[in-house]
Parts: sequence; C-alpha cells; structure tokens
Amino acid sequence: MKDIQNIVILTGAGISAESGVATFRGPDGLWEGHRVEDVATPEAFQRNPALVQNFYDERRTKLKTVQPNAAHQALAKLDRTWVGDLLLVTQNVDDLHDRAGSKRLLHMHGELNSAWCLACDARSRFDGVMAAGPVCPHCHQSGGLRPDIVWFGEMPYQMERIELALARCDLFVSIGTSGAVYPAAGFVQTARYHGARTLEMNLDPSEGSFHFHESRMGKAGELVPDWVEQILSHGLC
Ligand code: OAD
Repeated sequence: MKDIQNIVILTGAGISAESGVATFRGPDGLWEGHRVEDVATPEAFQRNPALVQNFYDERRTKLKTVQPNAAHQALAKLDRTWVGDLLLVTQNVDDLHDRAGSKRLLHMHGELNSAWCLACDARSRFDGVMAAGPVCPHCHQSGGLRPDIVWFGEMPYQMERIELALARCDLFVSIGTSGAVYPAAGFVQTARYHGARTLEMNLDPSEGSFHFHESRMGKAGELVPDWVEQILSHGLC
C-alpha cells in the first residue's frame, strides 16, 4: 500500500462494451467482419477509400445510439474530484468518456467525431457521413477528408505527454484492453519501471496481465465504480 497522488488510466474497447459498442477482438468484435488491413491502414484507404469511409461512417452513426455506462461515469467523477494529477488515456475512438464528463482526457488513437483534411492538414469536428465527400470547413475543398483515426503503421497522438505522465505517476490503471496493440500495451512496463503501482481491470486476463501488481477480473461497469469509491475514500490502492 502506498500513497497515491498522480494517476494514469488507460482504457480500451472493453470499457464501452456494456454501452453496446463492439470490442475489436471479442466474438462479435469488429475485426471479425473486416480484416484489419482492409479498413485500418493508410494503404487500405488509398486502395479503397469508399470501403474505409463506410466502415467509419457506420461506427459514427452507431455512436449516436449508445450512452456512457457506469464505468465512464465513475472515471468522470474521479476526474472531477481527484486533486492530484490525473490523465485518462483512451484507445477508444468513441466519445463516451467525453460525454460522461471526463476532462483530463486524451484520445491516443484519434476520434470518430473528428475529420482530418489531407488537403490543408486541418482537423475539424465532424458528425456526418464522410463517404458523401463533404467540404473541409477550413480550406473548402471537397473529398480531402479522412477519418481522424490512428491506423496501423501510424504514430499514436501525444506520445510525449503520455510518456511524461507515465514517468510521474504513482498508480497506473488499465481497463478493458486486451494488451495486444503497442505502444499502449507497453505502458504498464513503463509505469512500473518508474516505480508506479499497477492495476488491471478486465473481463479476462490481458496478454500482459503478468506485468501488473494486481488484476481484477469482471465487468468494467461493476469493477470501475467500486475501485473509484475505494480510491476516493482511502486514497490508497
Ligand atoms: P480489444 O477488443 O482488443 O480488447 C477488449 C478487451 O476488453 C478484451 O480483453 C475483453 O476481454 C475486455 N472486455 C470485454 N468486455 C468487457 C467488459 N464489459 N468489462 C471489462 N472488460 C471487457 O480492444 P482494445 O484493447 O481496446 O486501434 O484494442 C486496442 C486497439 O486495437 C484499438 O484501439 C484499435 C484496435 O486496433 C485502433 O483503432 C487504432
């Protein structure tokens, strides 16, 4: 047991599963229906932009039908209440942490509700249908927008800020991620190297489960609210 001041939390698809957003590698996971290399690489977008746009358009439309769950709400409460440093790093491209109210939040794999214009390099909020070839609000060209999603072979966002937070944190918590995709899968080792305590909450052991000091297995919607109450009442993990 040690005093906790600075916390880094990593979330993955599992935290949104109880909201009805499919995970990537589960039995009904999105990758089941689509090969990664067909929808989540820059090469796929060059080869067949319509297929890739449709894939993300469908997910953006679905997003409007789902709501944050108890786990998102609990992390937002922690964000509002915690006086020490806190950084919530999500691999998720949905906006459920945002809608729950988390502020100290970073989308390392991009966001469904953001568009990146390849003509002028600007990012803009976007909640429409990209396959329709909308106009960029900055340069007014049409057809240059791509989903602002980090695809395989591309660099996740804000890695310097994440590395700094990992080096300074006393507690690293990983929630609802299979630990299959780097660099996020390596955060636990970085945090441990710098002396942090590490906790995993997941439905089943992740690929890097053995790196964590403690693993709690179960649904995020049950485990996360309990953990937040625990840390807010004791400041200990
Ligand atoms: P995965 O689909 O690989 O893993 C989701 C994890 O959540 C699994 O280990 C499940 O057991 C667990 N899980 C499922 N339901 C849960 C629940 N109710 N409560 C807690 N855990 C639950 O998703 P990620 O690890 O997020 O990247 O995948 C990482 C990245 O792979 C994604 O960000 C995406 C993909 O390539 C990009 O799109 C760039």
